[in-house]
Amino acid sequence: MKKWNVAAVRASKGREKLGCCTAYDACFARLADEAGVPIVLIGDSMGNNVLGYENTLPVSMSDTLAAVGAVSRAVKDAMVVGDMPFGSYQCGDDEAVRNAVAVIKAGADAVKLEGGASVCGLIRRLTTAGIPVLAHVGMMPQSVNEYGGFKRQGKTRAEAERILADAKAVEAAGAFAVTLECIPAELAAEITAALKIVTIGIGAGPVCDAQWLVMHDLLGLNEQVPSFVRKYADLAGTVRAAFASYVGEVREGAFPPPVA
Ligand code: KIV
Repeated sequence: MKKWNVAAVRASKGREKLGCCTAYDACFARLADEAGVPIVLIGDSMGNNVLGYENTLPVSMSDTLAAVGAVSRAVKDAMVVGDMPFGSYQCGDDEAVRNAVAVIKAGADAVKLEGGASVCGLIRRLTTAGIPVLAHVGMMPQSVNEYGGFKRQGKTRAEAERILADAKAVEAAGAFAVTLECIPAELAAEITAALKIVTIGIGAGPVCDAQWLVMHDLLGLNEQVPSFVRKYADLAGTVRAAFASYVGEVREGAFPPPVA
């Protein structure tokens, strides 16, 4: 299988649609990689999906570095992208560059960070330092307190124009791809047509160059999922049934069998 890197992702635009997803540990990252997922993101969505928080804000650099290490050790062909957690790039560009370097040293091929025009200076510094950046505009979960909840963005023309301007700005600053989260499909289509870099949509309709799904949603490990998600398995049911069979068989003496 081909090794995914910045050049391969850039070259995919207009040729191949990429189904990308998150993973947070070695086991699932290896399975995603073996299945041909081109980009595996250690998303800060590990906050809600793995660490039991209500949102992504409490995720720390040490949570991120441990998960990036685990995923990158398991993956052979996928590009590994580490999400910069909240607080790791908001307190000055020097600290942000140091934290991004740590994510790369832990095994990521690139970093992802949220923001448009306001993070363009940082994107320029990172790309100049040789750190590829995947940008993220539209609904930015790290701004949940500012929005007052996880709210679809870009519904008014003024908001849509700001998001389009942000997407153009991160491209000009050197990002190799941009996440478009929870914006109207027509706006995502307009941005995808306007940019030369790959757009990766999540809740942004079918026209984007690529898609993200959170692994726990895609696999049906999460039973409550946003309406834009398609579950490709029902692992919650399968896993619960397996645990219940095991508990039942131990209780009934059916497991373990006698030792020879
Ligand atoms: O953390 C995350 O899961 C994300 C999504 C856009 C994939 O940022």
